[in-house]
Amino acid sequence: MSGSRAPRQGGPYRIVVGVTGGIAAYKACTLVRRLQDAGADVTVIPTPRALDMVGRATWEALTGKPVHTEVAEDAAHVAHVRHGGWADAVVVAPATADTIAKMRAGMADNLLTSTLLAARCPILLAPAMHTEMWLNPATADNVRTLRERGVLVMDPASGRLTGSDSGPGRLPEPEDVAAEVLSLLDGLDAAGSFAGLTVAVSAGGTHEAVDPVRFLGNRSTGRFGVDIARQASRRGARAILVAANVSGDLLAGTPAEVRTVESAADMHAAMDAAAREADVVVMAAAVADYRPAAYERTKQKKGASGARVLELVENPDILADLSRRRRREGQTVVGFAAETGDDSATAWEHGRAKAIRKGSDLTVVNRVGDAAGFGDVDTAIAIVDGTGATVAEARGSKAELAGIILDAISAWRTH
Ligand code: CTP
Repeated sequence: MSGSRAPRQGGPYRIVVGVTGGIAAYKACTLVRRLQDAGADVTVIPTPRALDMVGRATWEALTGKPVHTEVAEDAAHVAHVRHGGWADAVVVAPATADTIAKMRAGMADNLLTSTLLAARCPILLAPAMHTEMWLNPATADNVRTLRERGVLVMDPASGRLTGSDSGPGRLPEPEDVAAEVLSLLDGLDAAGSFAGLTVAVSAGGTHEAVDPVRFLGNRSTGRFGVDIARQASRRGARAILVAANVSGDLLAGTPAEVRTVESAADMHAAMDAAAREADVVVMAAAVADYRPAAYERTKQKKGASGARVLELVENPDILADLSRRRRREGQTVVGFAAETGDDSATAWEHGRAKAIRKGSDLTVVNRVGDAAGFGDVDTAIAIVDGTGATVAEARGSKAELAGIILDAISAWRTH
C-alpha cells in the first residue's frame, strides 16, 4: 500500500479481522499485514474451524496479541462486547456461507459471531465459497438481507476455486479488501466534509459509433471515477456520475445518481448539464479524441480491396470547455492526465504541461504503462494545480487514491 498515509489524528484505526474456515484463510495474513502497514491496530478473531487452516500461533505472531475463538476463553473481559465496542470496523475475510447464514440469523455460537452481533461499528464481509454455494438462493437471500441491514458485502472475485472448478466465489484480493475497509473508514472520518456540495464525476470510456454494430473505444473500466463518486457520497456530497460504458457490476450499489452515456458527444451534453448543478466537476473519463467523420446507418460490408480507410474528426475537449467557461461560480474543475514518459519528457512533465494547457484547477497525473494504471491494483499519481505545481503525490489502490484526491479538492476549496 501507499506508505503515504499520514498518521491519523484520532489515533490508528482499530480493526477486528474475523477469519472463518475457508481455504482462503491464509490470504487473511496478507490482509492483516496490509492493514498494519497502513497504520491500523489489528485484532484477529478466527472461528474454531479457521484454526484448522491457519493456526493460532500465526495470528498471535502477526498481531502480537492473544487469539481466542470462544467467548468462554476470555469470559472475565466479556471479550465479544469489548471487541465489538473497541473496533472502528470488523472485516470478515474469508466469510464462508456458514458464517454469513449465522450472521443473518443472529447466532452467537463462537467469539467471532458473538462479536459480530455485539458490534456497533461498520461490518465488511469478503465472501469466499464455491460458486454453487454463492449462487444458492439461501446464500443470495442471506446476503441481500445483510446488505439491507447495512452490512457491506463485497462481491466475490471470479476465477479458479479450490478444486478444478472456477467462477464467482474467490476471495477478493487482500489488497482490495484492505483498500475497501480503509476507504470506508477514511470516508467516515471525513464524513460531512462535502456536505451540501454537488460533485459531478465522469467515468468510463466513450464509444464512437462506426455503424450500428461497430465502435471505436478504449480500455477504461471507469473504476477511478466510480470510486471518486462513491467516496464523495460517503463524505456527504450529492454525487452525479456520468458513466460511459461502465459495467453494471461496478455501478451496483453506487450511491451516486448515475447518468449513462455512450459517445463523447453524449458525455459533453451530460457533463454540461451536470456542471450547471455542480460545485465540483471531475473529468475522470477516457474520452475518445476522435470519432468517425460519418456514421453509417447500415452495417458496412467488406470491400473487395482488402483495406479500408476510416476518416476521423476531432471531438471537442470537454475538460477544456468546462474549465474555460465555468457553468457555476466558485466551481472547482478537476482533470486527469494519463501519461507515459517518452523521449521528450517524463510522464510527470507531460502531465504538468497538460494541466497548464487545459485550464483546470487541479489535474490528477496518472502514470500508465510499466504495470501501473488501467485496471491495476496499484497506481501512482501526482496532483498538480493550474501552474503545474505539485500539491500531493501518492501511490496505492484506486479506492485509496480517490480519498486522497477528495482531500486535495477539499484543501483546494479552502485555500
Ligand atoms: N478529455 C476531455 N475531452 C476530450 C479528451 C480528454 O474532457 N475530448 C479530458 C479527460 O477526461 C481527462 C483530460 O481531458 O480529464 C486529459 O485526457 P487525456 O486523454 O490524458 O488527454 P488529451 O487531451 O486527450 O491529450 P493527449 O491524448 O494528446 O495526451
